[in-house]
Amino acid sequence: MRGENVYRFKIFRYDPSERESGPYFQTYDVRVEPGLTVLMVLLRIRDEIDGTLAFRSSCRSAVCGSCAMVINGKIDLACRTQVSKFDEKTIILEPLPNLDIIKDLVVDMTPFWRMYERVKPYLIRKTPSPQKELPQSEEERKRIDQFVNCILCASCYSACPVVARDPEYLGPHAFAKLERFISDSRDERPLSDLLEFDNPHGLWGCDTVLKCIEACPKNVRPTDSIVNLRKRLIKLRLFGKDRK
Ligand code: SF4
Ligand code: FES
Repeated sequence: MRGENVYRFKIFRYDPSERESGPYFQTYDVRVEPGLTVLMVLLRIRDEIDGTLAFRSSCRSAVCGSCAMVINGKIDLACRTQVSKFDEKTIILEPLPNLDIIKDLVVDMTPFWRMYERVKPYLIRKTPSPQKELPQSEEERKRIDQFVNCILCASCYSACPVVARDPEYLGPHAFAKLERFISDSRDERPLSDLLEFDNPHGLWGCDTVLKCIEACPKNVRPTDSIVNLRKRLIKLRLFGKDRK
């Protein structure tokens, strides 16, 4: 079946429980109507052609962060990628790098979450919170907007060359989240918490080659957070002020 609107999808397949077969690419020819996203094609393949194909998805609208993968060599969300944007009629889909494969396009996110947890990704208060609410001014909220937009899709983690060579490196997503809370006017964690990351697996590991910025679908720019946190750490070292 090859015609004007038919695209050839070459999809990475691998089932570690069937070790003898090893990884391979499986080809599916699919007729693509205008407006169809890569995720919609994957759902169609799974529902109508091959129920054994494994991939993650949920919101279908670039909010849940579950459908990140490599699409024609570039990391992106399948649900926000229109098939028609490609000039070529062959689309190659592969799982996110830097993470072990569970099956086909589904990767094991355990290391990603392990690093995420290390930065304590929640508001920390020393003084009791008021009964009703803890308000923020517009300006205070603007300061964290960029980092609040993170949808934890792991695109940055998968694109990061430091993660590729150092599995103990904290990762861009974790630093973006740490900056999100440290910059939050309501958060009261001491700056000395940063000392845990004052090492080559932490804040000094980043090569600042901006691969995470390139890969992030939400313009979070994790490198900005690393630069900001490094500045805070230097100030803490120089002046010893344990507050923001
Ligand atoms: S910083 Fe961007 S690329 Fe990284 S997890 Fe968040 S949304 Fe995804
Ligand atoms: S399905 Fe939720 S981000 Fe793509």
